[in-house]
Amino acid sequence: MLMLMVISFATSVRTVAARPSVNNMENHFTAGNESEEVRLAAIKRLLEVFGMDDPPAIHEHKQPPQYMLDLYNTVADVNGVTKDPNLLEGNTVRSFFDKLHSEQVEYRFNLSTVARTEKILTAELHLFKLRPQTKLALNQHHFCQVSVHQLLDTSRINNTQEKKLLSSRLVSVHSTGWEVFTITQAVRSWTSDEGSNLGLYVTIRTLGGSQMDMNLIRFASGRNHHQSKQPMLVVFTDDGRRSTALENTGESDFTTTPSLPYAPLSGSPSRSVRSVDYREEDGMSLPCQRLPLYVDFEEIGWSGWIVSPRGYNAYHCKGSCPFPLGQNMKPTNHATVQSIINALKLIKGIETPCCVPEKLFSINLLFFDDEENVVLKQYNDMVAGSCGCH
Ligand SMILES: *[C@@H]1O[C@H](CO)[C@@H](O)[C@H](O)[C@H]1NC(C)=O
Ligand SMILES: *[C@@H]1O[C@H](CO)[C@@H](O)[C@H](O)[C@H]1NC(C)=O
Ligand SMILES: *[C@@H]1O[C@H](CO)[C@@H](O)[C@H](O)[C@H]1NC(C)=O
Repeated sequence: MLMLMVISFATSVRTVAARPSVNNMENHFTAGNESEEVRLAAIKRLLEVFGMDDPPAIHEHKQPPQYMLDLYNTVADVNGVTKDPNLLEGNTVRSFFDKLHSEQVEYRFNLSTVARTEKILTAELHLFKLRPQTKLALNQHHFCQVSVHQLLDTSRINNTQEKKLLSSRLVSVHSTGWEVFTITQAVRSWTSDEGSNLGLYVTIRTLGGSQMDMNLIRFASGRNHHQSKQPMLVVFTDDGRRSTALENTGESDFTTTPSLPYAPLSGSPSRSVRSVDYREEDGMSLPCQRLPLYVDFEEIGWSGWIVSPRGYNAYHCKGSCPFPLGQNMKPTNHATVQSIINALKLIKGIETPCCVPEKLFSINLLFFDDEENVVLKQYNDMVAGSCGCH
């Protein structure tokens, strides 16, 4: 399975990457073995850009939770580009389904996919309150007190299981729909000590404090109700990754794996690509500008685990930066001086400045992880917003 994906992906990386300048690329894919090596390195590097070691295993597909789809559409435009960087506090939102499927109002979530380095910002329990059974709807109670407890392991000290109150709220008996409870502290303790995760227990009481009739107020369980109403844990985190810049790629990586196949995908074309372009088109090169570069996840072979978007326009920067550099080229002072030195031919071998992304935007990915949980993640510096001479 993995191998198949790798091969189809490798084939398509070539297609995608080759688009901007087909002729240049061909030269680098002459020796069969060498190109295979390059392709494998490209796959690995692209996954790293998306913060993964391996592509998530593809299971038979569940429908992603509506909440996650809505959240994605709130933070991202149709191309996956972040609408407003302030909408989301962290850069990751993970959803988990209840693993217990209990008839009781008891839930357990497996948080093993949350990396230890991820900072938990907020965690919410989402429960779907079902319509009350009509014959009981004329009951005297209009509100009930719904409390979420963390189950604690005290069985070694005392043969009873202790509960810690996490969140409590009045809920209308006649309402139907999602009820959200904040349980951040419990999730923080579970991620720091997985063994302490014994789950959650919900109590429903009348305002007088007595046990509520469980036929009157019910929450959908993972066992008896439609998948779209399953109890769900939503965890907002930050993985601390601010940029996918090639910060941990040492020089040695460049010598063993030429940067060509993935450079156009990561939005910052390598210098070798650029200089070849220019030599070819000398004299008739257009001024520095932003041009389309569509990264198609289906072509790459990732459509199995990426829910949205199907692909995105990363754009690329191309063109010449000759003297004099106008303000529309957004030159740095350094670039201006370099273009002057180049024009005056004062010093041999000084090229014109380079046409590179000046502003970069983040994109959002909604995808299934290895455990079939749906994850929303933001990746910085993925789309060239504008180009300039630097
Ligand atoms: C190159 O690949 C071919 C088959 O594709 C294989 O027979 C050969 O041993 C490889 N050469 C090297 C040096 O790996
Ligand atoms: C959570 O999921 C991981 C990965 O599937 C598994 O290894 C682990 O045993 C699970 N933990 C619990 C408590 O079920
Ligand atoms: C055991 O747990 C019960 C219920 O929480 C509590 O009332 C009791 O004091 C505990 N006993 C001991 C010895 O801790």
